[in-house]
Amino acid sequence: MLTTNLPNPLPPGVTLRPGRGGLDCLFVDTEACTGEIHLHGAHVTGWQPRGSAPVVWMSGRSAFEPGKPIRGGIPICFPWFGPHPSDPAQPPHGFARLSAWTLDRVGRDDGPQGDAVAVTLSLRTDAGQPHAWPHRCLLTFKATFGRELALELAVSNVGDTPCIVQEALHTYFSVGDIRQVAVEGLAGATFVDKMRGGERFVQDAAPIRFAGETDRVYLGAAGATTIVDAALRRRIEIAKTGSRSTVVWNPWIAKARAMPDFGDDEWPSMVCVETANVLDDALTLPPGGEHRLQALIRVDATPA
Ligand code: BG6
Repeated sequence: MLTTNLPNPLPPGVTLRPGRGGLDCLFVDTEACTGEIHLHGAHVTGWQPRGSAPVVWMSGRSAFEPGKPIRGGIPICFPWFGPHPSDPAQPPHGFARLSAWTLDRVGRDDGPQGDAVAVTLSLRTDAGQPHAWPHRCLLTFKATFGRELALELAVSNVGDTPCIVQEALHTYFSVGDIRQVAVEGLAGATFVDKMRGGERFVQDAAPIRFAGETDRVYLGAAGATTIVDAALRRRIEIAKTGSRSTVVWNPWIAKARAMPDFGDDEWPSMVCVETANVLDDALTLPPGGEHRLQALIRVDATPA
């Protein structure tokens, strides 16, 4: 069921209609960019600044069904990351990406971008979630679609007990060929390498390059990262605030084949660089506490 609190007609260039699988989706088509966000999961499923190739990657095999995650775009992981710590029956990466969010506001953005469209959605964790979680939080997600893509996830603890949360803007980026990609900005950071049993290592000065399945959580990594894409001759810059973890993931060949919602041949065209607070960087929110996680994504077409 479509839930909105929208007081006004939508601004020019914005439509709200069924998207893939019939799921409600807000489409943005302005002079600055095209973009889309599904209410299912408050999931950004597209962003393409005018004159650029798509920046946000989507799998052609994704499900678009209530109760299932969307593969690609920007899943919101909350309130846990990866498998549930104690109950394997709970959905990986939490329930926020499976929930129907409320569309609260759509408007032209008065920020520095000028011609951007800002979309705000919210989710209360006590609003009849099928997945038990003993805390009351209000989540507000704002996506601002312009020449840049600005994302903000605000989490408020509106309950009366402290809660520990993990969160990620699990962004899938389109790349020309992962074998020609480098990720810069993580030198010196400690990472948990899920491909080596969760052992910890320190990233050396060289950028990250990809030659096999890669699944790493960089901790205490609060700085910006850049995806240098030699094949598409562009750089994607991801600046962030309120985030101490960065997750870098590509499934490579075997894992891509094993995932039913991921095309066998799609792995070279994507990389996840996720703006997060996970593992040691999990947040503790006291009653009344609030945290804001922000990412600002821009494309620099200077040849990589
Ligand atoms: C990444 C994790 O963030 O998400 C990986 O580090 C995981 O371990 C990947 O495989 C995809 O997760 P999911 O639940 O969307 O298949």
